[in-house]
Amino acid sequence: MAGYEVVLRDIEEELVQDGYEEIEWSLGKLEEKGRLDEDAETILDRVSTSVSLEESVSDTDLVIEAVPEQLEIKEETFSTVDKHAPDHAILASNTSSLSISDIASATDRSEQVVGLHFFNPPVKMDLVEVTYGEATTDETAELTYKWVESVGKTPIYVRKDVHGFVVNTVLVPFMEEAAWMLSNGETTVREADATMVYERGYPMGPFELNDFGGIDIAYHFRDESDQPAPPAIEEKVENEDLGKKSGKGFYDYEDGNGVDYE
Ligand code: 3HC
Repeated sequence: MAGYEVVLRDIEEELVQDGYEEIEWSLGKLEEKGRLDEDAETILDRVSTSVSLEESVSDTDLVIEAVPEQLEIKEETFSTVDKHAPDHAILASNTSSLSISDIASATDRSEQVVGLHFFNPPVKMDLVEVTYGEATTDETAELTYKWVESVGKTPIYVRKDVHGFVVNTVLVPFMEEAAWMLSNGETTVREADATMVYERGYPMGPFELNDFGGIDIAYHFRDESDQPAPPAIEEKVENEDLGKKSGKGFYDYEDGNGVDYE
């Protein structure tokens, strides 16, 4: 939407097509609401697809990695990208919980590796965290910061490579505190969500947000913690009721009404 040529890459053709169709759907929605400066077709024409990691990064200025949140997969990906991307390219990770310094150590250009953390749904969420790894230079961070501005979003620097950066360090306890209160019989899902939405003005309450982002995602964020998870969350993870994506979480999206505190 900001005018850049983009290569969308995934490991299989079917997954690439799923991603492409998501973009098509999203642009269709935005076009319907008159929020595009060009027609959706023109924007889509700038997106090409690939299943080859080597080819997809061979002529690029910026690589944004969003593979699963497992360090070994990140390292393997960054090591390959490092060998095939042009020397000047910045390599960015969309990780929400892994260390940028650890990821960068799989490359020979750790000074050009940076965190670039978007929020769900990225097309609508304004904020992007730009995180320094130990070796990231100011030049890399500043170029990345300017790029975020050039796509019409608001960047903030996270100056130390802390687990969870700023947003998740604050947001995960917000969801967990509410889950502790639920586990202790002190509140209900609907009451806690209504309180945060109507009293605090948050766009989503803590349970709605956990369902929206995936209960397993917030749960694994705490992998480095020695504190137990709230039982209400443990139970959802054990039963694989992981939120909207699995049809059921704190709310029921298949047989129930979905989010219903309004
Ligand atoms: N593209 C285009 N349209 C989209 C879309 C997308 N990707 N996603 C949703 N929409 C559409 C919906 O289909 C709906 O369309 P409709 O009106 O035709 O039915 C419409 O957008 C809803 O948008 P509205 O502007 O009317 O609604 P809101 O103003 O309520 O915005 C929201 C929706 C931006 C999702 C808002 O509820 C919100 O800000 N929620 C909080 C999200 C949040 O906190 N995300 C961060 C999660 S943490 C994270 O990502 C970190 C990770 O590392 C774990």
